Amino acid sequence: MEFGEVVRLRRTTREFDGRAVPEAAVRRALEAGLRAPCNAHLKSWQFVLLRDRDRRRLAVVAALKARDMTDPAEIERFVARFADEELKAVYRRSLPVQQAMMLAAPELLVVCYKLKPLAECRTLFELNPLASVWMCIENVMLALADQGLFGCTYTPYDAAGLKEALRVPAGYEVAAVIPFGFPKTPPVEAEREDLDARLHVDAW
Ligand SMILES: Cc1cc2nc3c(=O)[nH]c(=O)nc-3n(C[C@H](O)[C@H](O)[C@H](O)COP(=O)(O)O)c2cc1C
Repeated sequence: MEFGEVVRLRRTTREFDGRAVPEAAVRRALEAGLRAPCNAHLKSWQFVLLRDRDRRRLAVVAALKARDMTDPAEIERFVARFADEELKAVYRRSLPVQQAMMLAAPELLVVCYKLKPLAECRTLFELNPLASVWMCIENVMLALADQGLFGCTYTPYDAAGLKEALRVPAGYEVAAVIPFGFPKTPPVEAEREDLDARLHVDAW
């Protein structure tokens, strides 16, 4: 696919059509991730693919405690904190499937990276490993999109249980848990953002 098309077509996808993902496609996406830039040449990134269904269920349900919020009243209480209608719509769509998307996806990828304890970070500069791992993740998502594969970058509020269940070594954090596969329905291109409203030349 042409680069611009890949960028336009990459959309968050939470429902999959159930087809297995070819191993070569998974490897190609992760290889693209490893080509991302990183702070101080430190690519501390590690990938865990959760393929065994029982282990995945334990990791997602018992360890990560991801849950689907399906009660409409609870969802409305949750979205009430946002003023923006579009943001409310994103949460109304996504809250009911946070656990389901991870259990149903043909592949579930956990992306880990090294970060010193947050309490010891005193400057934003020290969060560069976090910035870097997201460059890796975006490369992965774009390489997936290029192959007709899509997913969702779920960010755990508390990943302690998941790290323990996956035996992630001390010093590593979980950046995202990413269900991916072929989409149930083709992703729709997002509306174009107004660049001129955001672009400043020489000063803001
Ligand atoms: C850092 C980050 C964290 C996110 N966390 C979640 C999440 O926990 N659950 C979820 O369903 N989607 C999550 N998303 C997906 C966003 O909702 C989605 O990217 C956003 O609505 C824009 O839609 P698009 O990806 O289709 O352009 C996350 C995305 C990013 C970049």
